[in-house]
Amino acid sequence: MLRSVLAIPDVYELFGQAIGVPAFRRVFSSEYIRPKRTERILDIGCGPGSMVPYLEGAEYVGFDMSASYIAAARKRFGDRATFVCERVSKQTLDAPGAYDVVVASAILHHLDDAEATKLFELAAQALKPGGRLVTLDCAYVPEQTKLARWIVSMDRGQHVRPPDGYAAFARRVFRDVKVDVRHDLLRIPYTHIFLECTNPIESS
Ligand SMILES: C[S@@+](CC[C@H](N)C(=O)[O-])C[C@H]1O[C@@H](n2cnc3c(N)ncnc32)[C@H](O)[C@@H]1O
Repeated sequence: MLRSVLAIPDVYELFGQAIGVPAFRRVFSSEYIRPKRTERILDIGCGPGSMVPYLEGAEYVGFDMSASYIAAARKRFGDRATFVCERVSKQTLDAPGAYDVVVASAILHHLDDAEATKLFELAAQALKPGGRLVTLDCAYVPEQTKLARWIVSMDRGQHVRPPDGYAAFARRVFRDVKVDVRHDLLRIPYTHIFLECTNPIESS
């Protein structure tokens, strides 16, 4: 029931507000994305565009397979961002090698192994030399509380993995992968994993 109503953009936002997602997004932006004004940012699985207010000044392109989320994103932020309705497996890049940062926020745990691999390949192609892919997802870790594990297991995503499960995909494509696990970012018991993957700077 909760899973299906979360597909409604306004319900998704309200549920997020109730569990502390706005404060969480501020941390995600300031500690992990660290956006700079005028940077080009690609958001894969952008949902209703919820990260746009936390990436002030950036040139933002988001894509997502959900037509209702993309319609909501365009309605809210269409004057300052570009949104495309597309699946990860089908997405062709508008501008290869042109993005400073690629964001994949809460999408990898929705993707099977083939699409997760595709996401990392897409991100590497989209990034400038030295650009970064930043991902966040829920995860199973041995030290999390039973309640956190249960809440994570209720997620709509059918591919929640342990940290190494996510990082293994990243390391097939990126040499420089940092992993961070946090348990303190929502008002409910929950476990997040962040990956920061840096594209190599080509030597001339
Ligand atoms: C939990 S939501 C996260 C939305 C947004 N990134 C956020 O942080 O609020 C997961 C999103 O991934 C999208 N998604 C799932 N599978 C996808 C796929 N194969 N291609 C593109 N988008 C996908 C869903 O439509 C949904 O908007």
